[in-house]
Amino acid sequence: MKTIFDKLNGNCKNSARVSDKVIDLIDKLAKNTNLERDEFLYVLNNITARETGHLYKRAYEVKHIHYQNRVYLRGLIEISNYCKMGCKYCGINYKAQGVERYRLTIEEIVKCCQIGYDLGYRTFVIQSGEDSYYSDKLIIEMLGFIKDKFSDVRITLSLGERSRESYQKLYDAGADRYLLRHETASRRLYEHVHPSFMSFDNRRKCLSNLKEIGYQVGAGFMVGLPTQTNEDLVEDLIYLRELGPEMIGIGPYLCHEDTELKGNESGTLEETLVMVAMARLTLPKALLPATTALGSLHAIGREKALKSGANVMMPNISPTENRAKYEIYQNKICITDASDQCRNCIEARIVGVGHEIDLGVGDYIDFERNEEK
Ligand code: 5AD
Ligand code: FES
Repeated sequence: MKTIFDKLNGNCKNSARVSDKVIDLIDKLAKNTNLERDEFLYVLNNITARETGHLYKRAYEVKHIHYQNRVYLRGLIEISNYCKMGCKYCGINYKAQGVERYRLTIEEIVKCCQIGYDLGYRTFVIQSGEDSYYSDKLIIEMLGFIKDKFSDVRITLSLGERSRESYQKLYDAGADRYLLRHETASRRLYEHVHPSFMSFDNRRKCLSNLKEIGYQVGAGFMVGLPTQTNEDLVEDLIYLRELGPEMIGIGPYLCHEDTELKGNESGTLEETLVMVAMARLTLPKALLPATTALGSLHAIGREKALKSGANVMMPNISPTENRAKYEIYQNKICITDASDQCRNCIEARIVGVGHEIDLGVGDYIDFERNEEK
């Protein structure tokens, strides 16, 4: 039973009055980026296929003001699938039995960066399960190697929850950005999809620490999690507005049959696109990826996201032999491809929908690194 976007999922038709109000609220958000809680909720409760086109168009226009048709590319390296966390939706959490675990050495990571650099990427996203093996010392060493070898790149870390001291040390050692999705801004839902040893408050604390230190920060959430409501999704938008992250990752929840949440419905393409577009209107300058999860859910899911406000893509540059092992959800795309194949595939997709690739570092507009310590 779907609990979000009742009208969108139920193929309902709105009366002219309701439809007009949804359109007016979308236009209001596009103009001054501010809606009250109940106004956000009205949009999500009442939007139907008749109004989504308008929403996507507005989101595209707002993106265009700041970024035109440029799509920034980030080379993604999945360095380890060891994870001590227990997110109930995730196929590589510590309980998952069928996973063959791997981790890359610094040499292997730098090799991936070289491949990515040669393909033109100037941002490397170093992502991992929560793996204590990667001590501050090791990551600092890795950052040093990468920054020495490639002077004109940005490094984005995505290594999960760490202490403020650790985040500070990694920032001082040259990390530029940090991705840590908040997953959901609803405490009830967070607690429903995480074990009791994981903390809603700590996750938020991590995000505010990252912000204070001076990282370009990426938050984000999943759409279609079991028991998620439109009220929960409104909280996500309001939380994002308060936090003001530079990057926002939004993807559909994709049910993994080897997790505690097996047997649940996945999120849908339209639900996710609505939230991508709403996020664009709420934070007009955000760097918003067309996520791999959307591409895995639908053959042209990422292209549709570009048309609905997204402006980043994250081609995989992990060693091909490890890709299938980083199965946070099933039917993930790109697991048999080599990095240069992903590069060509992604460019063709971007160009195919009237966009162009931008191979610059792609910092957030207005971003200035905070060098004070
Ligand atoms: N479906 C979709 N997204 C998932 N993630 C983890 N498991 C799943 C899943 N089953 C997302 C989480 C995490 C990011 C790396 O991937 O939001 O932060
Ligand atoms: Fe949390 Fe994988 S166990 S994202």
